[in-house]
Amino acid sequence: MKELIKEAILAREFAYAPYSNFKVGASILTKNKKIYKGCNIENASYSLTNCAERTAIFKAISEGERDFLAIAIIGAKDKEKPLEYCAPCGSCLQVISEFCNTKDFKIILVKDEDDYLEYTLEQMLPFAFTNKNL
Ligand code: THU
Repeated sequence: MKELIKEAILAREFAYAPYSNFKVGASILTKNKKIYKGCNIENASYSLTNCAERTAIFKAISEGERDFLAIAIIGAKDKEKPLEYCAPCGSCLQVISEFCNTKDFKIILVKDEDDYLEYTLEQMLPFAFTNKNL
């Protein structure tokens, strides 16, 4: 867990957030113990911004990963320490739910290495819309 949190903190360093100035880092752990990092990547056309969580999971999926255990997330204004825990937005939760079991998958909201909260995907996205609905 500590390793995953450290990677999320590192990932935040690469955030490209010139418009909001809010930098987010995420790190996702695969079942075979690999970690993929991601940061938010903003765009002058604001709606094309990609969140850190989706950057991380898309990187992993595009490298052939399909099985995940947990994601750690940290977000704060540039140069500031997080004042709040940064929860994934609804779009990211929906993307995560495509690949991750809602009961087991853990979402770790990080302020620093020793201050974090742990939730299941089910807690953050009850009644997820999934392929079972189709
Ligand atoms: N953002 C993330 O990357 N992840 C979240 O969980 C919440 C929001 C980004 C999107 C945007 O670049 C900035 O934070 C402000 O919304």
